Amino acid sequence: MVEIKDLGRHTGEAVTVRGWVETTRGHGKVAFTVVRDGTGVVQGVLVRAQVDDAVWDVHATLSQESLVSMTGEVKEDARAPGGYELGVTRLELLAPAAEYPIQPKEHGVDFLLDHRHLWLRSSLQRAGLRVRAEVEQSIHDFFYERDFVRIDTPILTGAIGEHAGTLFETDYFGEPAFLAQTGQLYVEAACPAFRRVYCFGPTFRAERSKTRRHLTEFWMVEPEVAFADSADNMRLQEDLICYVVERALERCREELKVLERDTSKLELVKTPFPRMSYSEAVEQLAAKGSETRWGADLGASDEVALMEGRDLPLFVHDYPKEAKAFYMKENPDDPRTVLCDDLLAPEGYGEIIGGSQREDDLERLRARIREEGLPEEAYAWYLDLRRYGTFPHSGFGLGVERTIAWITGRHHIRELIPFPRLMNRLYP
Ligand code: 4AD
Ligand code: MG
Repeated sequence: MVEIKDLGRHTGEAVTVRGWVETTRGHGKVAFTVVRDGTGVVQGVLVRAQVDDAVWDVHATLSQESLVSMTGEVKEDARAPGGYELGVTRLELLAPAAEYPIQPKEHGVDFLLDHRHLWLRSSLQRAGLRVRAEVEQSIHDFFYERDFVRIDTPILTGAIGEHAGTLFETDYFGEPAFLAQTGQLYVEAACPAFRRVYCFGPTFRAERSKTRRHLTEFWMVEPEVAFADSADNMRLQEDLICYVVERALERCREELKVLERDTSKLELVKTPFPRMSYSEAVEQLAAKGSETRWGADLGASDEVALMEGRDLPLFVHDYPKEAKAFYMKENPDDPRTVLCDDLLAPEGYGEIIGGSQREDDLERLRARIREEGLPEEAYAWYLDLRRYGTFPHSGFGLGVERTIAWITGRHHIRELIPFPRLMNRLYP
């Protein structure tokens, strides 16, 4: 048995591949079948005059997604999907397929999402998820190469990580528990142990928004660095983004081609990225006719407006305190604001990273917890980090699906996670 990706090493030899039938066609004299084995696709060619009747008959019964074993000589053929053909001599049906719901035609997205367990087999979906796997690996490599220690943070948590409004609550032996909105508070705790740490895992937000960039379960990578300030934090973010984009360009050429991504846009992504304060952003937006007033968080349309004409991602930094989470450090130069940044991606993809320097002053942090109406008891352990050798530190969270949607050029982030969880979707 040979894997289709290795066919190039077997030109002129007879080999057997095993896989699922994508298409079949043919007429009286020649028939074709395209088989996918998970490593690639290859076209089998059956010549009526050269194959046994039994082989010809098996071919006639094949339906889309039947599992077959196919034997034949490997021939190079630039026109064939995958670049090789098999001159078939044997064909065996290993498992038949009932009528396959996904046909080579346009289907509505709800239909496709209902059949996500099968839709995964389609070429665009395969390409997108392969890019995802490469991006995830590159994120781990980036941090590994820079001596970060990976810390796995809990999914079941007692303290609210971000906003009270978007919690999934569950019963934890009679006590309320929340699915983690972030691993941040825990990586902060690991900083004095390891200095540079990160977590990478699923996070949960009960967001009632049906937009192209919201999932209720999404993956986030969250580094945290002791002694890093907000400027260091932004430099780490731009380095990570460039590393990941470069790696996708280098190792996912084929996939990006299948996805019809205009990669010249990605080639432009180089450090340093421009930086703009929130106050400047609000001024620019006002000039563009936005209703957003100083104090409010920027909306999706504001982000798009700010990115008009820009090729590079943009840092917007130092937002008003009231627009952001309780743990961000007050800006000593303008206490109405906090030392934070959002990184906006070009081409309409909006915020892909949220980061900040953390409030390291015990009393200020406690005051912020109270102001936000959060239960102080739940944060006793978090406040301890400011009691025992408090230290300046910063970190950020990169939304994996949003970043991959931008890199692949897909419109909706739900295609970049194998099994999306959306407001109205828990199956498959
Ligand atoms: O800006 P957020 O809420 O930041 C945090 O959670 C911080 N605790 C991170 C940190 O500093 N360690 O979320 C970070 C990123 C966003 O920029 C966005 O890319 C993504 O997570 N994100 C979502 N992605 C998909 N669906 C959602 N509902 C998302 N909410 C946030
Ligand atoms: Mg954010």
